[in-house]
Amino acid sequence: MSVQSQPAIAEYTYPRGWFMVARGNELEAATPLPLTFFGRKFVAYRTAAGEPVVLDGTCPHLGAAIGVGGTVDDDGVRCPFHHWRFGPDGRCNDIPYSKIIPPRARVNSYPVRELNGNIFLWNDPEMGAPDYELPDMAEYRDPNWVKWSLVRKDIKTVPKEIVDNIADKAHFPFVHGAAIAEFKNEFVGHTAKQYAMNLHETLAAEPGGGLPSYATYHGPAYLLTFLDGPYPAWMLICHTPINTEHVAVWYGTMVKCEGEMTAEFLDVAANYVELGKVAFYQDVQIWENKDPAPQPLLCAGDGPILQARAWYSQFFRPRDSDAQQVAAE
Ligand code: FES
Ligand SMILES: [Fe+2]
Repeated sequence: MSVQSQPAIAEYTYPRGWFMVARGNELEAATPLPLTFFGRKFVAYRTAAGEPVVLDGTCPHLGAAIGVGGTVDDDGVRCPFHHWRFGPDGRCNDIPYSKIIPPRARVNSYPVRELNGNIFLWNDPEMGAPDYELPDMAEYRDPNWVKWSLVRKDIKTVPKEIVDNIADKAHFPFVHGAAIAEFKNEFVGHTAKQYAMNLHETLAAEPGGGLPSYATYHGPAYLLTFLDGPYPAWMLICHTPINTEHVAVWYGTMVKCEGEMTAEFLDVAANYVELGKVAFYQDVQIWENKDPAPQPLLCAGDGPILQARAWYSQFFRPRDSDAQQVAAE
């Protein structure tokens, strides 16, 4: 079959992967947390043993939002409207006024991970099992590191714009006021890496010195960056689409204390977190106001933006789409 006559492989609206949906401390024992992502409702809660659970948030009975006014009951969550209870597997396991539970009384239950203080959901239009894992950070449990506490900001953009940034070599001096001495990308499987030597005046070890940064996307929505400066730091940015026009973005930084954790050091750490946040919000201002550029006009000196987009597109295609493509040829 010729290239022209190949059937187009439909892309998903939202990518497959792990997505941050809440900080761990937002899940209280007795109260479910209503969430909206990927254009639909979810409900999150903890079981009696403290395990996080995320279910579809729309009740199959009469459509109430389970998370809004619902209650956590034992290992399940009760809908506020007629008190049907759904277990961690998504099945309705109690209707207070009926002994018979309709077999279709169930909602989807999603794979969930609680990692380094945050809750992640596996979004998958094929409803398959996770095909990669996010990194567990030993630093989060190390008393010599000031832990991150991620801050959420909802912005008007699409995640594609945010992901372009991993390869956008040319914007650093203009948006962030930092020249770049070296810059390299590598795209391998579900990871996209960026190495940059920032000539950053405030974060470098010495005036005029360089600050190496190593950023890695683990899947489409989890960007972890190591800043190898005088105070080693891990910066985390997670972004989850709320709908087709808005994205929830979380930002946080952990900083290592080499000696005693003094008040002075805590000031330094707070300053680090603040500087990273300022740099990140500089990008946000561009994203919120730019138009999509599906066919950008690139020139020498721009980073490999098209390569980054090709890497990102893998999360929008069915797993066997490459095999389908080969079979069609
Ligand atoms: S709508 Fe949820 S129990 Fe009736
Ligand atoms: Fe940027």
